[in-house]
Amino acid sequence: MKQRRRIYEGKAKILYEGPEPGTLVQFFKDDATAFNAKKHDVIEGKGVLNNRISEHIFTRLGALGIPTHFIKRLNMREQLIREVEIVPIEVVVRNVAAGTISKRLGLEEGTPLPRSIIEFYYKNDELDDPMVSEEHITAFGWANPQEIDDMMAMAIRINDFLSGMFVGIGIQLVDFKIEFGRLFENDTMRIVLADEISPDSCRLWDINSQEKLDKDRFRRDLGGLVEAYTEVARRLGILNENDAPRPSGPKLVK
Ligand SMILES: Nc1ncnc2c1ncn2[C@@H]1O[C@H](COP(=O)(O)OP(=O)(O)O)[C@@H](O)[C@H]1O
Ligand SMILES: [Mg+2]
Repeated sequence: MKQRRRIYEGKAKILYEGPEPGTLVQFFKDDATAFNAKKHDVIEGKGVLNNRISEHIFTRLGALGIPTHFIKRLNMREQLIREVEIVPIEVVVRNVAAGTISKRLGLEEGTPLPRSIIEFYYKNDELDDPMVSEEHITAFGWANPQEIDDMMAMAIRINDFLSGMFVGIGIQLVDFKIEFGRLFENDTMRIVLADEISPDSCRLWDINSQEKLDKDRFRRDLGGLVEAYTEVARRLGILNENDAPRPSGPKLVK
């Protein structure tokens, strides 16, 4: 087989040159990292689950009219995406205090926030992705005010939709991280959702048991990460019937 050109290898994914100009293949690895890769492990099966979960979420967001880089899933570990110029900002939306906001502001984990809060982090591994404000983003030219508005508007829509989707399957969306990119088409440029949305990039708590169904299982050495991600996928209804037997809806009563 012809050797594909590898464009970029990150902590969780590899980007290969796509079949057509302007496309890439996004390969989901089994690597798990935390604290900016100071902690690393390989967790067999994680990449397959994230590929499927992210496909599901991007497809549903696309159906809602949110522009994304997603074109189609190619196989168990790969999806075809549109190549974008990544905005070097991680957009975090929080509904409930957990992780760094709990530490920084002294809020007990699980405390509901007065309203959903959007935070920005500068994507820079050497600096450990520092938190930045809109002032920094515009002053250093990482994004312009219109792009920040677009990203915030999409982040709020994504939060509303995903919060509802997860509540419907007994899961609380505590927070999540998203990335955006610039897509150039003819003479126009627009901001689209890129990267992935998966239990690697969200905090997901089971509503009844409060059990964590996300990457905190790895960060905090709780174990059972693949089981938790599989449970998320199962509840989303995206595993094959033979993977996870599950009644598919109301049954006709005879
Ligand atoms: N559509 C896209 N076009 C170009 N780059 C992308 C696209 N979607 C995601 N990326 C970038 O590809 C990389 C994905 O690999 P990942 O393992 O998450 O990297 P990292 O270790 O930098 O987080 C990220 O740096 C992300 O910003
Ligand atoms: Mg990443």
